[in-house]
Amino acid sequence: MRRFEIGAAFDNVHAAAKLTLVCMLASTRKTIGTALKPLLKTLKGERLDTPPIWLMRQAGRYLPEYRALRAKAPNFIKFCLNPETATEVTLQPVRRFGMDAAILFADILLLPHALGQSVGFAQGEGPLLTPIRDAAALAKLSDAKAEDVLAPVMQTIRNVRAALPEDVALIGFAGAPWTVATYMIEGRGKTDYENCRRMMWEAPALFAALLDKLVDATAAYLIAQADAGAEALKLFDSWAGAVPAPLFDLAVIAPTARIVELVKARHPDIPIIGLPRGAGSHVARYAAGTGVDAVAIDHMTDIASAAASLPDTVAVQGNLDPMLLMVGGEPMAAEARRIVEAMKGRPHIFNLGHGVLQHTPPDHVARLVDVVKNNG
Ligand code: CP3
Repeated sequence: MRRFEIGAAFDNVHAAAKLTLVCMLASTRKTIGTALKPLLKTLKGERLDTPPIWLMRQAGRYLPEYRALRAKAPNFIKFCLNPETATEVTLQPVRRFGMDAAILFADILLLPHALGQSVGFAQGEGPLLTPIRDAAALAKLSDAKAEDVLAPVMQTIRNVRAALPEDVALIGFAGAPWTVATYMIEGRGKTDYENCRRMMWEAPALFAALLDKLVDATAAYLIAQADAGAEALKLFDSWAGAVPAPLFDLAVIAPTARIVELVKARHPDIPIIGLPRGAGSHVARYAAGTGVDAVAIDHMTDIASAAASLPDTVAVQGNLDPMLLMVGGEPMAAEARRIVEAMKGRPHIFNLGHGVLQHTPPDHVARLVDVVKNNG
């Protein structure tokens, strides 16, 4: 029986009794020889004395060992689709900092690439795509080759699983349909989403058809990642905060709920983390409406208030400001301790509110891990 069903069936039972039940389940697993890793325990609703820690964008340009490999690969998509380098880059932050999770090295824009859209990364410009703004452009997308194009990602997952220390979990991921659609429609990042918002209001059937394609392709992609060995999955809805409030259910909650349903139909036990970045007042509805096991809280949101609005079975991830990781020192340590303290007594995964910034000194990351793990 899944944790969620237990929660629903025992709605009137005192929270402590529910916790006992979850712990009993966890210890049953242990006796059958599949002791859970700290990240997975937390995602199953256990409260650990020390929260597991990993960081969004923990693999990337702030690491000299990443830059050394990346310098040899002019094409970022090809770099992601090379299992040898993608494996190495996935493992780099785990090796250097002792993170509790590895996140697969890939990108949310591999999916539009696999559907046949032209996706490039220009130096200093970020992603550039041929925009999709009408039915003819949408009709050209096809998932016929997606599985083959994305096969190297599955090889990376198998490689990483074979190489990871036994207490470190591997997180697979995809972009949530809305966030991926913003890049597909605008053709680039860092926009005001004008073309997206126009399409949502003016051509709702076209917008819905694009999201439907993304729901199916994303669910298939995540199922393939779980088949290959990903132990938890994350859906990045990085631009959820840009959705007009009346359309939040349509653009964010409904497509995410459908993906969770499709993935759990094939992998009932795999935990799913949602990041509805910028969702603000929608966070509780997002958790209830999507069925995700954990919600990642951005740094604009007070984590204690957000946590209080969620059922105590839902794990909370976050939410240090990435800028504090760049600043380092006592301001960073104090805020990290405050977050850990505020989340005592509920399932919490320490993380940032968004990704590691490019010019972050790696030493600050090491210090953060020490603060969270050893109160250092
Ligand atoms: O360590 C990890 O988190 C794993 C790998 C990962 C990357 N992208 C590698 C990457 C993950 C999980 C992502 C997710 C991703 N990609 C998101 C969602 C998370 C978020 O940050 O909001 C989004 C919106 C993207 C799209 C994307 N990819 C953009 C806008 C850019 C350019 C801007 C930037 O940050 O560089 C990328 C490129 C990218 N993805 C890089 C990396 C390491 C930098 C590429 C380089 O080496 O030049």
